[in-house]
Amino acid sequence: MTIDEMYQDLRSKLADTVPDAELYYKAEIAVEINKLKKEKNAVILGHNYMEPVLYNSVTDFKGDSLELSRQAAKTDKDVIVFCGVKFMAETAKILNPGKTVLLPANAGCSLAASITAADVRDLKRRFPGVPVVTYVNTYADVKAESDICCTSGNAAAVVESLGAQTVIFLPDEYLARNVARETGKHIIFPTLDAVDAASEDELDYQIVGWRGRCEVHEKYTVSDIQNVRQQFPDVVILAHPECSPAVIEASDFSGSTSAMIRYIAKTDAPHYLLLTECSMGDNVAASNHDKTFLRMCSVRCPHMNMITMENTLHALQTGQIEITVPEEIRVRAVRAVERMIAIG
Ligand code: 13P
Ligand code: SF4
Repeated sequence: MTIDEMYQDLRSKLADTVPDAELYYKAEIAVEINKLKKEKNAVILGHNYMEPVLYNSVTDFKGDSLELSRQAAKTDKDVIVFCGVKFMAETAKILNPGKTVLLPANAGCSLAASITAADVRDLKRRFPGVPVVTYVNTYADVKAESDICCTSGNAAAVVESLGAQTVIFLPDEYLARNVARETGKHIIFPTLDAVDAASEDELDYQIVGWRGRCEVHEKYTVSDIQNVRQQFPDVVILAHPECSPAVIEASDFSGSTSAMIRYIAKTDAPHYLLLTECSMGDNVAASNHDKTFLRMCSVRCPHMNMITMENTLHALQTGQIEITVPEEIRVRAVRAVERMIAIG
């Protein structure tokens, strides 16, 4: 594609979202990225939270964490450029030890930062024999301590697949509460409940949680929803399961980022409101010109926001930042990730 063709293509999708001068400037970078991508035999995976131009111009596959893990597992390219955050790029490396995995910037995640491998080992000592489910939003050494991973797209199915009386579910407090609600299980949080070992044995719990939170989704409140419903009674509200249980309860649909995209594609509501990261709202609006989206978006993930057209180009030019996972950790983490992928 020439720069002009790229610019026209972006304009047809994003004219309402991105200023014209920015579209042209980024079209030039996009053409350069796509050229280098071919030369280096690379694939670019883009999470649904990527900024609209990057999302629509250079990604070979777009999706939620689960879909991108699946794509990473089956790529035959030599280089994977992960336009997302570090735990996602690490997951790609765990599945592809022989390939080069690049992350354009050192982008973290508040959930991944909320728990360490030592924390998981401590919980396993306190709750011996209880299987550990960790959200993919964790680093490789935490995954290595786990029996199975899950994403927002399959968390309840993963918990139910274990057929266990009790599970340890880490580290997202709200996702754990939402899964507990969906599966009818009773949850405890030993980190704050400060129960001692003796009383732990007597508790009637089925999920042991942790107090990690997504710094984006924890900001949405029930009063946000009430205000919008007052002004637009016919609005359909979709919320990511990292939002609080009260917010999920007050919404019309909850699911992974891609599940929200699919829901919008197959329904026809007068207005939609997405309670998730705000670039995703732009991306969904750009591919649904016939639908009306309300904007309540002031919540951009600061980590996802670190990935730009410029540093994606730089990653391909320099091979930076290369993601590595020590083999001793990788071999333990891959079992948990592959078990998750097998469940779907
Ligand atoms: P999804 O797996 O739903 O794409 O979510 C990833 C994430 O980081 C949400 O904040
Ligand atoms: Fe982490 Fe939340 Fe950002 Fe997702 S949106 S990467 S969970 S901080």
